[in-house]
Amino acid sequence: MERKHVVVYRDLPPGELERLQAEHDVTCADPRKPAQMQAFLDALPSAHGLIGSSYSIDDALLDRAPSLEVISSISVGIDQFPLASLGRRHIMLCHTPGVLTESVADFLFALVLGSSRRLVELGRYVQQGRWKKNLGNDMFGWDVYGKTLGILGYGRIGQALARRAALGFNMPVLYHTRRPVDSGLPQGRARAATLQEVLRQSDFVVIVMPLTPETRGMIGPDEFAQMKPQAILINGARGPIVQEQALLDALDRNQIRGAGLDVFDVEPLPQDSPLRDHPRVTATPHAGSATHETRAAMARMAVDNILLALRGKPPLAAYPLPT
Ligand code: DGY
Repeated sequence: MERKHVVVYRDLPPGELERLQAEHDVTCADPRKPAQMQAFLDALPSAHGLIGSSYSIDDALLDRAPSLEVISSISVGIDQFPLASLGRRHIMLCHTPGVLTESVADFLFALVLGSSRRLVELGRYVQQGRWKKNLGNDMFGWDVYGKTLGILGYGRIGQALARRAALGFNMPVLYHTRRPVDSGLPQGRARAATLQEVLRQSDFVVIVMPLTPETRGMIGPDEFAQMKPQAILINGARGPIVQEQALLDALDRNQIRGAGLDVFDVEPLPQDSPLRDHPRVTATPHAGSATHETRAAMARMAVDNILLALRGKPPLAAYPLPT
């Protein structure tokens, strides 16, 4: 079989790089590290495959890679790729749906619990030596069990979250999707709803939909105005779905109680972002899928995808591109 040239633009766990090297010539260069940018650019003209994540691939980059056949993203999200352009250039795009579903759902439910029960704040309270008497109601949290969970987007992760909420925490679940989807839960435990119903009736609104031109900026001043004042917004999808300034305004005006955010407009979150140490924001560093098991499974699937594609076989998960 012909050896091809694969550019790895993000570190791979042990064993995965060796699987690529067994079949192809491999260049490792991470363009997010200034010292490796030139090596990355130099490798593009002869690259047949790219594998990595967390780096935006644009037309200018694709112009430098005329032999590119496949990009394998170590992520489920495909918002960092110019889909129409890849389709036009007949470059296949692979991603890693499925393997991260349960760990992301765990993490999002942890954000629901953590932000409602003020877990980070209480932990800091002990750590800073401020626990000197019984806890007063200024440090109390709010119950989660039995409250209403609203989910925006009801793909694999949304459904896994709904199972946790409905079956484990007796929470009525409302979900909003573009196309009708069955709840996947016993009768009456979850129901499809309009965006307005989800916003107006939920105690927790969790965003798990992909970032697309339609969802960019979808949660703004009008949406916050519809939410309950005790509601908590959780974003585990992509930062730009929520208008950050509108979120800050909604918190200041007490239109909502708080937010649990794993994703941001700019990542890593800039040091001067008001979201970093906002007293009513639980902020985490895009860690939804960050467990040893899941990140290893994502890398394995991404390597399988690129190896299969370069052998001319169907990969495990190719994202359908516009033609
Ligand atoms: C994804 O896979 O898209 C998640 O955001 C984790 O990076």
